[in-house]
Amino acid sequence: MPTPTDKGSYPEYLRLKELLSLQSGWKEKEENISSDELHFIIVHQSFELWFKLVISELRQARDTLDESYVEETKIPKAVHHMERGIETFRLMAQQWKVMETLTPQGFLSFRDELGTASGFESKQMRTMEAIMGDFWIDGKKIENKINEKSIQEVVTKWLARTPIQGSLPNDSNDGQAVSEFVNEYLDIHLKLGEKAAHALSNNDDDETSNRFKDVNKQASEFLKPNGECDRARAGLLFIESYRELPLLSWPRKLIDTMVELEESMLLWRSSHARMVERMIGRRIGTGGSSGVDYLDRTSRYRVFTDLWGVRTILIKKEELPELKNSEFYSFVGETNE
Ligand code: HEM
Repeated sequence: MPTPTDKGSYPEYLRLKELLSLQSGWKEKEENISSDELHFIIVHQSFELWFKLVISELRQARDTLDESYVEETKIPKAVHHMERGIETFRLMAQQWKVMETLTPQGFLSFRDELGTASGFESKQMRTMEAIMGDFWIDGKKIENKINEKSIQEVVTKWLARTPIQGSLPNDSNDGQAVSEFVNEYLDIHLKLGEKAAHALSNNDDDETSNRFKDVNKQASEFLKPNGECDRARAGLLFIESYRELPLLSWPRKLIDTMVELEESMLLWRSSHARMVERMIGRRIGTGGSSGVDYLDRTSRYRVFTDLWGVRTILIKKEELPELKNSEFYSFVGETNE
């Protein structure tokens, strides 16, 4: 292996000899596989290389945020790594198009030889998922067993430290400040629901009105699970509600980027499912799953459930509780006139 001082060449630096000798699949020699199979292998390998990059970016983003105090200047770094992950997912979502140049018949000609080999067994896929966090579907958790922290985990801790109405977790009156904010918010949310229900129907006891009451109950359960304020969710709600405040501009950007990251992964999953449907219809997968039905189900998974969930309970700016201690959220040196 040449060192940088040897001034090695392009092929040496990229280890092209090794890299380009790995496309023979089960066969001993690459000459023995069809051009369709070569294409199949190269597309898979390219994906695995991109997975490797995404894993590295997600780890960097997580480590940047995994501190008991995250300096404002560190957040852009985490955002930057997530953005590279997002663009890679977008690129990979396009990459299925190359796969689709394989015809269903062309695939069938070597599919039997794959045996039980399936994307199911991609370890990097599972690592990517696990670094994001646990997956939820229909209220049930699919735990990702991996011996490292997830982005979801470290961000929840970070959110729990959000200043709410200028109050910080270690302040002596913090509990009161947070519950005042949450309760005021829920009261306004309830009244807005009543108003909306009334606009749709004059009967306070009908189905529409009950539906709005249920929505308020869900908002209350979201912000106060077991009756106690969840500080991370209250912090998230605060950031989303007062997102124009200068001090919240990077936190807000981080949250937006996380939602975009998960969205890009979901779009990649669903475009894989469409490619698979086009290729094998409703056949059982080589890994033994129900195939397209299984893949469609995975595009209903959500990791950053709170980040998605908070959107349901947002209210318009003019109705928000009055902001307290606004000077706390200005840039240093900015006056609050
Ligand atoms: C002809 C092309 C392809 C077909 C027909 C296909 C089909 C399938 C099917 C049916 C599954 C479900 C599991 C099973 O029962 O096997 C699956 C899972 C998977 N495939 Fe593909 N696939 C193709 C190409 C690719 C490529 C190029 C990649 C890139 C690495 C890939 C990555 C994955 C991954 C990561 C999973 C696991 C998804 C999860 O469990 O969330 N597939 N594929």
